[in-house]
Amino acid sequence: SNRTFTMVKPDAFGKGFTGGILDQIIQAGFRIVALKVTKLTKEKAGEFYAVHSERPFYDELTTFMSSGPIVAAILEKDNAVEDFRTLIGATNPAQAAEGTIRKKYAASVGENAVHGSDSDENAQIEGSFFFSAFEQF
Ligand code: GTP
Ligand code: MG
Repeated sequence: SNRTFTMVKPDAFGKGFTGGILDQIIQAGFRIVALKVTKLTKEKAGEFYAVHSERPFYDELTTFMSSGPIVAAILEKDNAVEDFRTLIGATNPAQAAEGTIRKKYAASVGENAVHGSDSDENAQIEGSFFFSAFEQF
């Protein structure tokens, strides 16, 4: 597929990094297919991250992800999932490559500024979690 899904997480949104992050995404060659500001409830965050429900950080993760507004977006580019994960860098910003979005904007492994889908299948599922079919044109 040529699409992926991203979120600007509450830490980055709250610090005013949304514009800089979206600019870097667009400059890297991604087209914005769908975009919205929204806020997850703890329950919706738990649903989104259900795959991590057995992890020790699940409660911290879902509390954080429901702590403030986020930006959700579907992005389009050749090789979107892999290229976007390269653009954002490692989960832990201390290990993220120079120039990556997490290196520039993330504070810690928990508050790591952005989400990027890890597979084509999950990109489709996650995009449809936030956007109806007619918004994904
Ligand atoms: P996402 O793009 O957000 O899915 O990040 P990822 O794919 O790089 O990491 P992963 O899917 O393994 O983990 C999902 C999210 O859980 C991470 O982005 C972090 O926000 C959070 N997370 C992962 N490991 C830890 C941890 O050890 N502590 C805390 N507090 N959060 C973690
Ligand atoms: Mg992940």
